[in-house]
Amino acid sequence: MSSENRYTDYDPWAWLYNESEAHLACRRFMPSLKKLLLPHLPKGAEILDLCCGTGQLTQQLLSGGYRVIGLDGSEKMLHYARENAPNCQFILGDARSFEFPSTFDAVICTDSALNHIMSLEELKSVFRNVYNVLKEDGLFFFDLGLGKRYSNIPVNDGELKNEYAWTVGETYNSEEKTGTFTITIFQPSPEKTNENLPKPSFDLPAIKRSIYNNFLRFVKPATLLQLVDKNWHSSKITFSVKPYSKAEVEAALKEVGFTSVKVYNFRCKSAASKEDKYAYFVAEKLHNELSFLESRPELIGVNNKI
Ligand SMILES: C[S@@+](CC[C@H](N)C(=O)[O-])C[C@H]1O[C@@H](n2cnc3c(N)ncnc32)[C@H](O)[C@@H]1O
Repeated sequence: MSSENRYTDYDPWAWLYNESEAHLACRRFMPSLKKLLLPHLPKGAEILDLCCGTGQLTQQLLSGGYRVIGLDGSEKMLHYARENAPNCQFILGDARSFEFPSTFDAVICTDSALNHIMSLEELKSVFRNVYNVLKEDGLFFFDLGLGKRYSNIPVNDGELKNEYAWTVGETYNSEEKTGTFTITIFQPSPEKTNENLPKPSFDLPAIKRSIYNNFLRFVKPATLLQLVDKNWHSSKITFSVKPYSKAEVEAALKEVGFTSVKVYNFRCKSAASKEDKYAYFVAEKLHNELSFLESRPELIGVNNKI
């Protein structure tokens, strides 16, 4: 795939993702990896962190004694990944078109990164590439937003900081079965900074920030729009997303060769409900008899005689 087709949409969000979402993602996914994947890997296993983003999770795995390589389509996300995990190797590439030798014990892909793959055919290409780089008995762990994940919500989260604020909202088109999420970033306009003005005796912005981030963010995220400094300018970044059903993901994994697929809900329990908005998938590349026999031609002779 040429660099024109490489997925680069995260470039403008990279600095903010590195400061905010990446830490939440790490806190969310490390416990799930510890429950669903890591106990099944050999000591010092080799892991590919596909769509690794800013590398915080990559670094945690490295600190846990694993050998980890990260791959992502965004140069800017990888810039932070190289800072956050200086001893890891990071590769600029696309999940739909990468190739490595089959040396990995596991591939992980976290924080709904695969919801950016906008067609089932392309999702199958990703699964095929993952299958090819796994050793026999290798495992593929990923999370995904399912059918009911996306809806139409103008502001469903946000943060008010000293130097910037952001909100995230989403849309969903139920006919096309595709959605978007939009990050709006507010920052002071350089020409309107009031750094030279005398500071007020009590810090009203700090009080506003604290009330919003500790309380309103969870009950009424849209209040951020009223609290953000009116002099700040805003910019928007919109990402396309596509949810998939559990059944189509399972079928696609099996079609490319994965023989065992387990699905869990966000509590890491077996996913039974059609109402689940997210799922973790753990797919196993089980020992393939044909390729085993192909690699040991002398055994084919034995079998033929039988
Ligand atoms: C939500 S972030 C997740 C980052 C990281 N896995 C984490 O848990 O923090 C999604 C990442 O997937 C990457 N990505 C999405 N589609 C991609 C593709 N087709 N090829 C390579 N990277 C892709 C984006 O560049 C971004 O860094």
